[in-house]
Amino acid sequence: MIPTEFIDELINKIDIVDIIEEYVPLKKSGANYTACCPFHKEKSPSFSVSPSKQFYHCFGCGAHGSAIGFIMEYQSLGFQDAVQFLSDRIGLIVPKQAGKSNNQEARKTIKKHKQTLEETVSAAADFYQHQLQHSPRAQNYLLQRGLSDEVISHYGLGYVPDEWQPLAKIFQPYPSNALVQTGMVINKEDRYYDRFRDRIMFPIRDGKGQVIGFGGRILDKGEPKYMNSPETTLFDKGQNLYGLYEARAAIREAQRVLVVEGYMDVVALAQFGLGYAVAALGTSTTTEHIRLLMRQSDHIYFCFDGDAAGRKAAWRALENALPQLKDDKNLQFLFLPPEHDPDSFVRANGIKTFEDALLHQSLPLSVYLWQALTEHIDLTTHEGKAELIKTAAPLLNKIQAPALSFLLRQELSQKVGIDEHNLAHLLGQEQPKQAKVKGKNYRLPQNTFRQPPVMSLAQKQIRALLINPQWAVYIDIPDYLDLHGEYACLAALAERIQASVIPLNMGTVLELMRNTEFEPVIRQIIHDYLDSADTMQAGNEDDCESFKQGMQKLLDNLKSQQIDALKRKLHNGLLSADEKQLLLLLLSPSKTPSV
Ligand code: UTP
Ligand code: MN
Repeated sequence: MIPTEFIDELINKIDIVDIIEEYVPLKKSGANYTACCPFHKEKSPSFSVSPSKQFYHCFGCGAHGSAIGFIMEYQSLGFQDAVQFLSDRIGLIVPKQAGKSNNQEARKTIKKHKQTLEETVSAAADFYQHQLQHSPRAQNYLLQRGLSDEVISHYGLGYVPDEWQPLAKIFQPYPSNALVQTGMVINKEDRYYDRFRDRIMFPIRDGKGQVIGFGGRILDKGEPKYMNSPETTLFDKGQNLYGLYEARAAIREAQRVLVVEGYMDVVALAQFGLGYAVAALGTSTTTEHIRLLMRQSDHIYFCFDGDAAGRKAAWRALENALPQLKDDKNLQFLFLPPEHDPDSFVRANGIKTFEDALLHQSLPLSVYLWQALTEHIDLTTHEGKAELIKTAAPLLNKIQAPALSFLLRQELSQKVGIDEHNLAHLLGQEQPKQAKVKGKNYRLPQNTFRQPPVMSLAQKQIRALLINPQWAVYIDIPDYLDLHGEYACLAALAERIQASVIPLNMGTVLELMRNTEFEPVIRQIIHDYLDSADTMQAGNEDDCESFKQGMQKLLDNLKSQQIDALKRKLHNGLLSADEKQLLLLLLSPSKTPSV
């Protein structure tokens, strides 16, 4: 736990506008800033950042929060890491909380360790790049594969000499724990030697550009053709893609990303000017890869080798993509002639033919799906139809994207000539798919999503307090009142704001409530009722007056509710002595003038 005072201090010292501006181009609009929301797709800006409240909010998708919340969401960081990230920026030291020091120490050690591993692979990558300059044979190989110096340097390609311990030249002592733990050095029967020897080296980078592992290709014929770093603390093959870091600008520019099978395909395509290709790391395309790709672009293309292995890889990619599909993401598959991979295809036919094929001849996932499923099935027979239902069911059931799922079921229903309701039963679902569409937690712009119910008084007071935390001084809720739900939330909010020694803004108030039982209530209110720039306006004197009146009314309501409840108990003879006291107190006119 990080002390709340520190969070207050942090949010007061940083400016949310500075932070968000680094990632999203903001435009001044009155007292606030606006932009197109980075968390959902939109054409006109409904994302608003308020410097006075230190709070961001998208009126379209409902995303909102403080600067910490933004970094958490945008950078996919946990709370602690986001706080650390922001503190580092302004040179604040995140305080250690008593009792947690061990944990902190442990984290520090882990971080230090990771740093050592990173430095090790980075140094190796530099060394390999340098070695390439000294090997005419390796240079010649890359030249013969048509690669220019520019592309070689963009991908940081290198060469590792033909010795047992090339890395001993730059690492002393050799071996070291870091060399073994990064998989650069192999330990066999107490002998240590380099994993990679006499190979062209492809450094693999993570999203930040840090080298995390290598693929190494043999120069001549030989086995294995490629060697890869093993999975390590740094290197998670399921979570990283070769060439993604290098491709980022090109992906943004082309607004699409292409997944191919080989390192060489990525580099060769870049040589021909197609810089938005990436490759899995000698594994199949995982669900996590698909998620990663979807974060880069709305248009994802797959083009694997034309051979049987390539077709299998495409099908695996499709299967792993199903649970991740979104209605606004477009996945396409291009199949090459059996003798080609993307590299050989562009060399034979030119990049224009390739890109044209990609754009105009690739199959949308839905088309590829049916094509593959019906390839060996005779749909004119009952047996064929039954088989299609059997093979399609588990696949369709993986799809969460509401519209796509609905359409594919409809299509299956047409293909087998069974109406959708009966088909739903056959697919193992009680309800026809439509019901599921409604219940999905799927972010649509709010106005097309649902109309929030009319606001309760308690919700109004909470909203007013979030926008005007200084009004907490007008809240005085007697201890004897029985609080629940939104009332309890309002009381907790007031109590925490009152306890703070420094003035708070909306961002800090939200952080005060993070991880409390009331956070969901507050987020729901922000989502439903802070739905326009108007509702975000700081209150004037009149508003403050109605807030005070609202508080009074709310207390009156609570009191009469409680009186009613106690009276009911009294009638039933269930009132305890204490409760009798309370009832008298509540009924005494001096204490509760307006009941
Ligand atoms: P390919 O055999 O298709 O290689 O393997 P390639 O990329 O076309 O390379 P060139 O053109 O022959 O030089 C595709 C990918 O499969 C993994 C590698 O990631 C490779 O890029 N692979 C292949 C291995 O991990 N080990 C191997 O022995 C072969
Ligand atoms: Mn190839």
